[in-house]
Amino acid sequence: MKMKNLSSQRHLFDIPDNIAYFNCAYNSPQLIESKSRLLSGVEAKCHPWERTASSFFEDAETIRQLSANIFSGNADGYAIIPSVSYGISTAARAIEPNLKTGDQILLIAEEFPSNVLPWRRVAKETCADIITVQTPNDGNWTQAIISKLDKGIKVVAVSSCHWTNGANIDLIEIGKACRDLNSVFVIDATQTLGAMPLLIEEVKPDFLVAAGYKWLLCPYGFSLLYISEQWRDSRPLEETWLARENAEDFTALVKYSDNYMNGSRRFDVGEKCTSTILPGAVAALEQIKSWGVSEIADSLSIINKRIGSHLEQLGFQLPKDSQRCPHMFGALLPSHYKGNLVGELKAKNIFISQRGNSLRFAPHLHINETDLDRLLNTLTELMKK
Ligand SMILES: Cc1ncc(COP(=O)(O)O)c(C=O)c1O
Repeated sequence: MKMKNLSSQRHLFDIPDNIAYFNCAYNSPQLIESKSRLLSGVEAKCHPWERTASSFFEDAETIRQLSANIFSGNADGYAIIPSVSYGISTAARAIEPNLKTGDQILLIAEEFPSNVLPWRRVAKETCADIITVQTPNDGNWTQAIISKLDKGIKVVAVSSCHWTNGANIDLIEIGKACRDLNSVFVIDATQTLGAMPLLIEEVKPDFLVAAGYKWLLCPYGFSLLYISEQWRDSRPLEETWLARENAEDFTALVKYSDNYMNGSRRFDVGEKCTSTILPGAVAALEQIKSWGVSEIADSLSIINKRIGSHLEQLGFQLPKDSQRCPHMFGALLPSHYKGNLVGELKAKNIFISQRGNSLRFAPHLHINETDLDRLLNTLTELMKK
Protein backbone atom coordinates (compact mmCIF):
# COMPACT_ATOMS: atom_id res chain seq x y z
CA MET A 1 0.00 0.00 0.00
CA LYS A 2 1.27 3.49 -0.84
CA MET A 3 2.38 5.55 2.19
CA LYS A 4 0.82 9.00 2.45
CA ASN A 5 3.56 11.27 3.70
CA LEU A 6 2.81 14.74 5.10
CA SER A 7 5.76 17.13 5.14
CA SER A 8 6.85 18.60 8.47
CA GLN A 9 4.07 20.75 9.96
CA ARG A 10 6.44 22.66 12.26
CA HIS A 11 4.91 26.00 11.21
CA LEU A 12 1.66 25.04 12.99
CA PHE A 13 3.43 24.55 16.33
CA ASP A 14 5.16 26.97 18.65
CA ILE A 15 8.45 25.07 19.04
CA PRO A 16 11.83 26.84 19.06
CA ASP A 17 14.34 25.67 16.42
CA ASN A 18 16.75 24.28 19.00
CA ILE A 19 14.19 21.88 20.53
CA ALA A 20 13.87 18.35 19.15
CA TYR A 21 10.81 16.87 20.85
CA PHE A 22 10.13 13.14 20.48
CA ASN A 23 8.01 12.70 23.60
CA CYS A 24 4.35 12.99 22.54
CA ALA A 25 3.39 9.77 24.32
CA TYR A 26 4.08 11.79 27.47
CA ASN A 27 2.57 15.14 26.44
CA SER A 28 2.21 16.54 22.94
CA PRO A 29 2.92 20.17 21.99
CA GLN A 30 -0.14 22.33 21.45
CA LEU A 31 -1.01 23.79 18.05
CA ILE A 32 -0.67 27.56 17.63
CA GLU A 33 -4.33 27.65 16.58
CA SER A 34 -5.36 25.93 19.84
CA LYS A 35 -3.30 28.41 21.83
CA SER A 36 -4.95 31.34 20.12
CA ARG A 37 -8.49 30.01 20.73
CA LEU A 38 -7.64 29.22 24.34
CA LEU A 39 -6.35 32.75 24.89
CA SER A 40 -9.65 34.06 23.59
CA GLY A 41 -11.32 31.70 26.07
CA VAL A 42 -9.30 33.21 28.92
CA GLU A 43 -10.29 36.71 27.84
CA ALA A 44 -13.94 35.76 27.47
CA LYS A 45 -14.21 35.12 31.23
CA CYS A 46 -13.33 38.79 31.82
CA HIS A 47 -16.52 39.71 29.94
CA PRO A 48 -19.18 37.37 31.36
CA TRP A 49 -21.98 39.57 30.02
CA GLU A 50 -20.97 38.42 26.53
CA ARG A 51 -21.39 34.72 27.33
CA THR A 52 -24.58 33.25 25.91
CA ALA A 53 -26.57 30.28 27.22
CA SER A 54 -25.71 28.31 24.08
CA SER A 55 -21.99 28.63 24.83
CA PHE A 56 -22.54 26.20 27.72
CA PHE A 57 -23.24 23.49 25.10
CA GLU A 58 -21.86 24.42 21.68
CA ASP A 59 -18.20 23.37 21.87
CA ALA A 60 -19.19 20.00 23.32
CA GLU A 61 -21.56 19.42 20.42
CA THR A 62 -18.87 20.42 17.91
CA ILE A 63 -16.47 17.95 19.53
CA ARG A 64 -19.02 15.12 19.36
CA GLN A 65 -19.51 15.80 15.66
CA LEU A 66 -15.79 16.09 14.85
CA SER A 67 -15.07 12.88 16.78
CA ALA A 68 -17.74 11.01 14.83
CA ASN A 69 -16.30 12.38 11.57
CA ILE A 70 -12.79 11.25 12.45
CA PHE A 71 -13.36 8.02 14.40
CA SER A 72 -16.86 7.05 13.20
CA GLY A 73 -19.62 5.98 15.59
CA ASN A 74 -22.54 8.33 16.01
CA ALA A 75 -21.91 11.80 17.39
CA ASP A 76 -24.41 11.19 20.21
CA GLY A 77 -22.21 8.39 21.52
CA TYR A 78 -19.36 10.69 22.59
CA ALA A 79 -19.11 12.25 26.04
CA ILE A 80 -16.81 15.06 27.15
CA ILE A 81 -14.78 14.05 30.19
CA PRO A 82 -11.65 15.34 31.94
CA SER A 83 -9.46 12.24 32.22
CA VAL A 84 -9.09 8.55 31.51
CA SER A 85 -9.62 7.74 35.18
CA TYR A 86 -13.00 9.49 34.90
CA GLY A 87 -13.90 7.52 31.76
CA ILE A 88 -12.84 4.13 33.09
CA SER A 89 -14.59 4.85 36.39
CA THR A 90 -17.72 5.67 34.37
CA ALA A 91 -17.45 2.31 32.58
CA ALA A 92 -16.75 0.49 35.84
CA ARG A 93 -19.77 2.07 37.53
CA ALA A 94 -22.02 1.12 34.62
CA ILE A 95 -20.77 -2.47 34.57
CA GLU A 96 -20.58 -3.03 38.34
CA PRO A 97 -24.25 -4.03 38.85
CA ASN A 98 -23.75 -6.88 36.33
CA LEU A 99 -20.81 -8.44 38.20
CA LYS A 100 -20.98 -11.11 40.88
CA THR A 101 -18.58 -13.12 43.02
CA GLY A 102 -15.98 -14.98 40.96
CA ASP A 103 -16.60 -13.09 37.70
CA GLN A 104 -13.33 -12.11 36.07
CA ILE A 105 -12.00 -8.79 34.80
CA LEU A 106 -9.08 -9.10 32.38
CA LEU A 107 -6.29 -6.50 32.40
CA ILE A 108 -2.80 -6.42 30.87
CA ALA A 109 0.49 -6.39 32.80
CA GLU A 110 2.00 -2.99 33.63
CA GLU A 111 -1.11 -1.20 32.42
CA PHE A 112 -1.40 2.54 33.13
CA PRO A 113 -3.05 2.99 36.57
CA SER A 114 -6.15 4.78 35.21
CA ASN A 115 -7.20 1.46 33.63
CA VAL A 116 -6.40 -0.58 36.75
CA LEU A 117 -7.46 1.30 39.87
CA PRO A 118 -11.20 1.62 39.01
CA TRP A 119 -11.28 -2.17 38.32
CA ARG A 120 -9.56 -2.97 41.61
CA ARG A 121 -12.26 -0.97 43.37
CA VAL A 122 -15.07 -2.71 41.47
CA ALA A 123 -13.49 -6.13 42.06
CA LYS A 124 -13.41 -5.38 45.78
CA GLU A 125 -17.04 -4.24 45.85
CA THR A 126 -18.37 -7.20 43.85
CA CYS A 127 -15.90 -9.98 44.86
CA ALA A 128 -14.94 -10.32 41.18
CA ASP A 129 -11.36 -11.37 40.35
CA ILE A 130 -8.78 -9.53 38.30
CA ILE A 131 -6.85 -11.66 35.79
CA THR A 132 -3.69 -10.04 34.46
CA VAL A 133 -2.25 -11.08 31.09
CA GLN A 134 1.53 -11.24 31.53
CA THR A 135 3.88 -9.60 29.03
CA PRO A 136 4.25 -12.18 26.22
CA ASN A 137 7.80 -13.40 25.49
CA ASP A 138 7.13 -13.33 21.75
CA GLY A 139 5.75 -9.78 21.95
CA ASN A 140 2.33 -10.81 20.62
CA TRP A 141 -0.12 -9.11 23.01
CA THR A 142 -3.16 -9.84 20.85
CA GLN A 143 -2.68 -13.62 21.04
CA ALA A 144 -1.71 -13.45 24.71
CA ILE A 145 -4.99 -11.64 25.49
CA ILE A 146 -7.17 -13.83 23.27
CA SER A 147 -5.71 -17.04 24.70
CA LYS A 148 -6.86 -15.98 28.19
CA LEU A 149 -10.46 -15.34 27.15
CA ASP A 150 -13.12 -17.77 28.32
CA LYS A 151 -16.66 -17.72 29.67
CA GLY A 152 -15.58 -16.57 33.15
CA ILE A 153 -14.19 -13.29 31.80
CA LYS A 154 -16.97 -10.73 31.98
CA VAL A 155 -14.90 -7.61 31.31
CA VAL A 156 -11.89 -7.12 29.03
CA ALA A 157 -10.24 -3.78 29.78
CA VAL A 158 -7.17 -3.23 27.60
CA SER A 159 -5.22 -0.46 25.92
CA SER A 160 -4.95 0.07 22.19
CA CYS A 161 -1.17 -0.39 22.47
CA HIS A 162 1.14 -0.84 25.43
CA TRP A 163 1.82 2.65 26.80
CA THR A 164 5.41 1.85 27.77
CA ASN A 165 6.64 0.88 24.29
CA GLY A 166 3.87 1.18 21.67
CA ALA A 167 3.50 -2.60 21.28
CA ASN A 168 0.54 -3.13 19.00
CA ILE A 169 -2.74 -4.66 20.26
CA ASP A 170 -5.29 -5.70 17.63
CA LEU A 171 -8.58 -4.30 18.90
CA ILE A 172 -10.67 -5.66 16.03
CA GLU A 173 -9.60 -9.25 16.80
CA ILE A 174 -10.08 -8.84 20.55
CA GLY A 175 -13.45 -7.18 19.99
CA LYS A 176 -14.67 -10.18 17.97
CA ALA A 177 -13.52 -12.58 20.69
CA CYS A 178 -15.30 -10.47 23.35
CA ARG A 179 -18.56 -10.49 21.42
CA ASP A 180 -18.37 -14.30 21.02
CA LEU A 181 -18.10 -14.62 24.80
CA ASN A 182 -20.48 -11.79 25.68
CA SER A 183 -17.67 -10.01 27.58
CA VAL A 184 -17.83 -6.25 27.96
CA PHE A 185 -15.05 -4.63 25.92
CA VAL A 186 -13.45 -1.52 27.44
CA ILE A 187 -10.56 0.26 25.72
CA ASP A 188 -8.09 2.90 26.82
CA ALA A 189 -7.08 4.29 23.41
CA THR A 190 -5.00 7.15 24.82
CA GLN A 191 -1.77 6.07 23.16
CA THR A 192 -3.20 5.61 19.67
CA LEU A 193 -6.34 7.70 19.11
CA GLY A 194 -5.54 10.40 16.56
CA ALA A 195 -2.19 8.88 15.56
CA MET A 196 -3.18 5.57 14.02
CA PRO A 197 -6.42 4.53 12.35
CA LEU A 198 -9.18 3.37 14.70
CA LEU A 199 -12.82 3.23 13.71
CA ILE A 200 -15.47 2.73 16.38
CA GLU A 201 -17.61 0.96 13.75
CA GLU A 202 -14.88 -1.64 13.18
CA VAL A 203 -13.70 -2.12 16.74
CA LYS A 204 -17.20 -2.00 18.30
CA PRO A 205 -16.13 -1.28 21.89
CA ASP A 206 -18.64 -1.08 24.72
CA PHE A 207 -16.62 1.82 26.17
CA LEU A 208 -13.63 3.61 24.66
CA VAL A 209 -11.69 6.32 26.49
CA ALA A 210 -8.77 8.47 25.38
CA ALA A 211 -6.88 11.27 27.10
CA GLY A 212 -6.66 14.31 24.84
CA TYR A 213 -3.26 15.73 25.72
CA LYS A 214 -1.14 13.23 23.82
CA TRP A 215 -2.00 12.06 20.29
CA LEU A 216 -5.17 14.16 20.05
CA LEU A 217 -3.03 17.32 20.55
CA CYS A 218 -5.70 18.69 22.91
CA PRO A 219 -5.32 20.69 26.12
CA TYR A 220 -4.70 18.90 29.42
CA GLY A 221 -8.00 18.28 31.21
CA PHE A 222 -9.89 17.08 28.14
CA SER A 223 -10.59 13.44 27.28
CA LEU A 224 -13.08 11.61 25.10
CA LEU A 225 -15.39 8.77 26.04
CA TYR A 226 -17.40 6.73 23.54
CA ILE A 227 -20.22 4.57 24.89
CA SER A 228 -22.01 2.02 22.74
CA GLU A 229 -25.75 2.26 22.44
CA GLN A 230 -26.56 -0.60 24.77
CA TRP A 231 -24.87 1.14 27.73
CA ARG A 232 -26.26 4.63 27.22
CA ASP A 233 -29.01 4.16 29.82
CA SER A 234 -26.47 3.39 32.56
CA ARG A 235 -25.93 5.40 35.70
CA PRO A 236 -23.36 8.18 35.10
CA LEU A 237 -20.57 8.99 37.52
CA GLU A 238 -22.15 12.29 38.55
CA GLU A 239 -25.48 14.07 38.06
CA THR A 240 -24.66 17.26 36.19
CA TRP A 241 -27.65 19.54 35.61
CA LEU A 242 -26.12 20.45 32.24
CA ALA A 243 -27.03 16.99 30.95
CA ARG A 244 -30.73 17.20 31.87
CA GLU A 245 -33.30 17.80 29.15
CA ASN A 246 -34.28 21.28 30.40
CA ALA A 247 -30.71 22.56 30.94
CA GLU A 248 -30.79 25.01 28.05
CA ASP A 249 -33.59 26.99 29.70
CA PHE A 250 -31.77 28.81 32.51
CA THR A 251 -35.05 30.27 33.81
CA ALA A 252 -36.46 26.82 34.63
CA LEU A 253 -33.56 25.00 36.27
CA VAL A 254 -35.41 24.44 39.55
CA LYS A 255 -38.05 22.54 37.70
CA TYR A 256 -35.69 19.63 38.35
CA SER A 257 -35.85 17.21 35.50
CA ASP A 258 -35.41 13.47 35.92
CA ASN A 259 -34.75 13.07 32.20
CA TYR A 260 -31.31 13.12 30.69
CA MET A 261 -30.39 14.62 27.34
CA ASN A 262 -30.10 11.93 24.71
CA GLY A 263 -27.14 9.75 23.77
CA SER A 264 -24.02 9.79 25.93
CA ARG A 265 -24.55 13.38 27.14
CA ARG A 266 -25.47 12.15 30.63
CA PHE A 267 -21.84 10.98 30.97
CA ASP A 268 -20.40 14.47 30.28
CA VAL A 269 -18.45 15.97 33.16
CA GLY A 270 -20.08 18.87 35.01
CA GLU A 271 -19.10 22.31 33.61
CA LYS A 272 -18.08 20.58 30.39
CA CYS A 273 -17.87 23.70 28.20
CA THR A 274 -14.80 25.14 29.90
CA SER A 275 -13.76 28.06 27.70
CA THR A 276 -10.10 27.58 28.63
CA ILE A 277 -10.11 23.93 27.48
CA LEU A 278 -12.69 23.01 24.84
CA PRO A 279 -11.91 25.65 22.17
CA GLY A 280 -8.34 24.27 22.05
CA ALA A 281 -9.70 20.74 21.64
CA VAL A 282 -11.97 21.85 18.79
CA ALA A 283 -9.00 23.40 16.95
CA ALA A 284 -6.91 20.24 17.45
CA LEU A 285 -9.64 17.89 16.21
CA GLU A 286 -10.25 20.12 13.18
CA GLN A 287 -6.56 19.90 12.35
CA ILE A 288 -6.42 16.12 12.81
CA LYS A 289 -9.46 15.78 10.58
CA SER A 290 -7.85 17.96 7.94
CA TRP A 291 -4.53 16.01 7.99
CA GLY A 292 -6.31 12.64 8.14
CA VAL A 293 -5.41 9.97 10.71
CA SER A 294 -3.94 7.50 8.22
CA GLU A 295 -1.79 10.29 6.74
CA ILE A 296 -0.55 11.14 10.25
CA ALA A 297 0.19 7.46 10.94
CA ASP A 298 2.07 6.98 7.67
CA SER A 299 4.13 10.13 8.16
CA LEU A 300 5.08 9.23 11.73
CA SER A 301 5.90 5.70 10.69
CA ILE A 302 8.40 7.02 8.11
CA ILE A 303 10.09 9.12 10.82
CA ASN A 304 10.14 6.16 13.23
CA LYS A 305 11.56 3.76 10.64
CA ARG A 306 14.52 6.11 10.16
CA ILE A 307 15.09 6.30 13.92
CA GLY A 308 14.51 2.55 14.32
CA SER A 309 17.06 1.43 11.72
CA HIS A 310 19.66 3.81 13.16
CA LEU A 311 19.05 2.42 16.65
CA GLU A 312 19.44 -1.14 15.39
CA GLN A 313 22.82 -0.24 13.91
CA LEU A 314 23.80 1.08 17.33
CA GLY A 315 22.86 -2.23 18.99
CA PHE A 316 19.39 -1.37 20.36
CA GLN A 317 16.76 -4.12 20.29
CA LEU A 318 13.45 -3.30 18.61
CA PRO A 319 10.21 -5.26 18.45
CA LYS A 320 9.31 -6.89 15.11
CA ASP A 321 7.75 -4.48 12.60
CA SER A 322 4.43 -6.36 12.79
CA GLN A 323 4.27 -5.74 16.55
CA ARG A 324 4.95 -2.01 16.37
CA CYS A 325 2.53 0.89 16.09
CA PRO A 326 3.36 3.44 13.40
CA HIS A 327 3.62 6.47 15.69
CA MET A 328 5.64 5.33 18.72
CA PHE A 329 7.99 2.55 19.71
CA GLY A 330 10.23 1.36 22.49
CA ALA A 331 13.85 0.30 21.96
CA LEU A 332 15.80 -1.75 24.50
CA LEU A 333 19.17 -0.24 25.41
CA PRO A 334 22.25 -2.34 24.53
CA SER A 335 23.28 -4.19 27.71
CA HIS A 336 26.80 -2.68 27.68
CA TYR A 337 25.44 0.87 27.93
CA LYS A 338 25.35 2.08 31.51
CA GLY A 339 24.82 5.83 31.08
CA ASN A 340 21.75 8.04 31.39
CA LEU A 341 20.83 8.48 27.75
CA VAL A 342 17.58 10.37 28.38
CA GLY A 343 19.40 12.87 30.62
CA GLU A 344 22.28 13.31 28.15
CA LEU A 345 19.88 13.90 25.27
CA LYS A 346 17.90 16.36 27.36
CA ALA A 347 21.05 18.34 28.04
CA LYS A 348 21.20 18.82 24.26
CA ASN A 349 17.51 19.80 24.03
CA ILE A 350 16.47 16.44 22.58
CA PHE A 351 13.51 14.94 24.41
CA ILE A 352 12.49 11.28 24.69
CA SER A 353 11.44 9.16 27.69
CA GLN A 354 12.48 5.93 29.27
CA ARG A 355 9.97 3.38 30.59
CA GLY A 356 11.70 0.46 32.32
CA ASN A 357 14.68 -0.53 30.12
CA SER A 358 13.03 0.80 27.06
CA LEU A 359 13.58 4.18 25.42
CA ARG A 360 10.31 5.51 24.03
CA PHE A 361 10.31 7.52 20.79
CA ALA A 362 7.10 9.38 20.08
CA PRO A 363 7.33 12.10 17.39
CA HIS A 364 4.52 14.13 15.83
CA LEU A 365 4.30 16.16 12.66
CA HIS A 366 6.32 19.05 14.13
CA ILE A 367 9.48 16.96 13.63
CA ASN A 368 11.70 18.20 10.80
CA GLU A 369 14.95 17.07 9.16
CA THR A 370 17.06 19.13 11.55
CA ASP A 371 15.47 17.41 14.56
CA LEU A 372 16.05 13.99 13.04
CA ASP A 373 19.68 14.69 12.13
CA ARG A 374 20.36 16.01 15.60
CA LEU A 375 18.76 12.99 17.26
CA LEU A 376 20.57 10.41 15.12
CA ASN A 377 23.97 12.12 15.28
CA THR A 378 23.73 12.68 19.01
CA LEU A 379 22.73 9.07 19.63
CA THR A 380 25.78 7.89 17.65
CA GLU A 381 28.02 10.21 19.66
CA LEU A 382 26.61 9.22 23.06
CA MET A 383 26.70 5.48 22.37
CA LYS A 384 30.43 5.68 21.63
CA LYS A 385 31.11 6.64 25.24
C1 LIG B 1 -2.33 4.56 28.50
C2 LIG B 1 -2.61 5.80 29.28
N1 LIG B 1 -3.84 6.01 29.75
C3 LIG B 1 -4.15 7.12 30.44
C4 LIG B 1 -3.21 8.10 30.69
C5 LIG B 1 -3.62 9.33 31.45
O1 LIG B 1 -4.64 9.02 32.37
P1 LIG B 1 -5.46 10.15 33.14
O2 LIG B 1 -6.18 10.95 32.11
O3 LIG B 1 -6.39 9.38 34.03
O4 LIG B 1 -4.47 10.96 33.91
C6 LIG B 1 -1.89 7.91 30.23
C7 LIG B 1 -0.84 8.90 30.51
O5 LIG B 1 0.34 8.65 30.33
C8 LIG B 1 -1.60 6.75 29.48
O6 LIG B 1 -0.38 6.53 28.97
